[in-house]
Amino acid sequence: MNENILVTGGTGYIGSHTTVQLMEAGYDVVIIDNLSNSNVNVLDGIEAITGKRPAFFEGDCTDMKTLRRMFEQNPGIKGIINFAASKAVGESVHKPILYYRNNLGTLLNLLECMPEFGVKGIVFSSSCTVYGEPDNNPIDETAPIKPATSPYGNTKQISEEIIRDVITSGAPIKSILLRYFNPIGAHPSAKIGELPLGVPQNLVPYITQTAAGIRKELTVFGDDYNTPDGSCIRDFIDVNDLAKAHVIAMKRMLDSDDHDKLEVFNLGTGCGLSVLQLINAFESATGVKVPYKIGPRREGDIEKIWADPKKANEVLGWTAETPITDTMANAWRWQESLKN
Ligand code: UD1
Repeated sequence: MNENILVTGGTGYIGSHTTVQLMEAGYDVVIIDNLSNSNVNVLDGIEAITGKRPAFFEGDCTDMKTLRRMFEQNPGIKGIINFAASKAVGESVHKPILYYRNNLGTLLNLLECMPEFGVKGIVFSSSCTVYGEPDNNPIDETAPIKPATSPYGNTKQISEEIIRDVITSGAPIKSILLRYFNPIGAHPSAKIGELPLGVPQNLVPYITQTAAGIRKELTVFGDDYNTPDGSCIRDFIDVNDLAKAHVIAMKRMLDSDDHDKLEVFNLGTGCGLSVLQLINAFESATGVKVPYKIGPRREGDIEKIWADPKKANEVLGWTAETPITDTMANAWRWQESLKN
């Protein structure tokens, strides 16, 4: 029988791509999502790709009664991948209570349920935001954690500490913390992708919407940084590559007891790309121009950060493989598919 995995936030952007790869790897998936920032139609996209529909439970993980009901109705869940969280940095500054309640409440409830329902492991979606502005690049997992600059970033740091404390206390669970750099792109089938509500805050959805004529022009936030072309540098990682790392992490926790009960990995390509280079990559991959202007710096932005992914490469046997032009072509195909 296939092993059952719970994906919280599974109708969201990274959750849906990970669900596809879990199913393709032979796992059964149960999604719990409150649909606060996603659409139930995403299940159709997942089914179109995999030929199978994941089990779906509409509900909010911050409500313990709801979560218990989900576990009771779906017995035998062996692992959890926790994507259910609020993720807009700017919004978190204005609504800190919402962010602490959603992100920490969900995690605490899941950790409390795990021993009760016999769940062995949890993969946690963390972020390179825990490193703040790095002293050196590329950055590895031993680099210092810097004070968070937003409630969103703080929830990631606190979540990592909560998991560490729970494991140290002797709870019969394991965890892998995955620190994502900048996930972008869409599934090559264009059946699932990123669906930002309203005006996109992140760079790639803004690029694709501008290219599609939905937005007049893109503003590049600053060209006076201490970087070769003056724009910020990030480590843009293809969402399908990122999804694959979750499947490997889950398998590692469930199939072997030889590893530490808590492990942490950076998920990035190891290559820094500037905002202007990314716009160029989009234009050369698609042949579509992106009108843009240079604007002032965005408050709270980090100048440059990219990953040293050696630990994930060597220990997990995972590498980000997708060329940036393929990633941008997929993002564009997904944007175009939304017209229909
Ligand atoms: C932020 C968070 C990260 C989070 C991610 C996803 C921080 C420091 N970073 O990443 O933790 O996981 O969002 O929600 O908290 N840009 C423009 N024009 C635009 C939009 C963006 O020039 O219209 C630039 C930004 O200034 C930045 C780069 O593009 O230099 C990437 O921005 P974005 O996609 O928002 O991601 P991050 O801020 O890196």
